[in-house]
Amino acid sequence: MARFLMITATSGTNRELADVFATTAIEKGHEAEIVDLVEMDLPMFTMVRSKDPESAPDISDLISSMTEADAWVVIAPEYNGSMPPTLNNAVAWMSMDWQNFRTMCTGKPVGLATHSGGGGAHVIMAMRQQFSFIGADVIGRACLSGRDKEANPETIDAMIDNLAR
Ligand SMILES: Cc1cc2nc3c(=O)[nH]c(=O)nc-3n(C[C@H](O)[C@H](O)[C@H](O)COP(=O)(O)O)c2cc1C
Repeated sequence: MARFLMITATSGTNRELADVFATTAIEKGHEAEIVDLVEMDLPMFTMVRSKDPESAPDISDLISSMTEADAWVVIAPEYNGSMPPTLNNAVAWMSMDWQNFRTMCTGKPVGLATHSGGGGAHVIMAMRQQFSFIGADVIGRACLSGRDKEANPETIDAMIDNLAR
């Protein structure tokens, strides 16, 4: 049994995809929690804000959920050939505590998924680069879906099995 955290960068079709990943994990006997970064509504990261205790957001619940999870699935739409700002912003806030952030990410099994307007290959590449850079163990298989392509249930199954290793 593994504890999964599904991190969705948007609350539309990507949130729906996060629900499918969570349901699949639970049906396989795992635990699954979903974090919706839109619901968190973090302020935009700037160095000025990060140095002001009144302005910096409390992200301790997010850090706890991420630390306690055995594996993450990061689900995000493609925005302009890359990641949406909610995801980039959350990573920037978390990385301010650099040592603990590195420790939390190092070796963490991570799966990537998208529901994008087009193919979504660029956001998968962008997330692969980001999450590999911060030390996570990003699995090769990713789930790409969009307007003209449904998410493949076999891919979701295989990703959950691989991440729960
Ligand atoms: C600002 C913006 C930029 C976008 N850029 C791209 C893009 O580069 N490639 C693409 O395939 N879709 C792009 N889209 C479409 C989104 O990926 C698509 O609508 C996605 O399903 C939205 O996810 P959601 O329903 O979870 O909000 C863009 C949408 C927005 C709002």
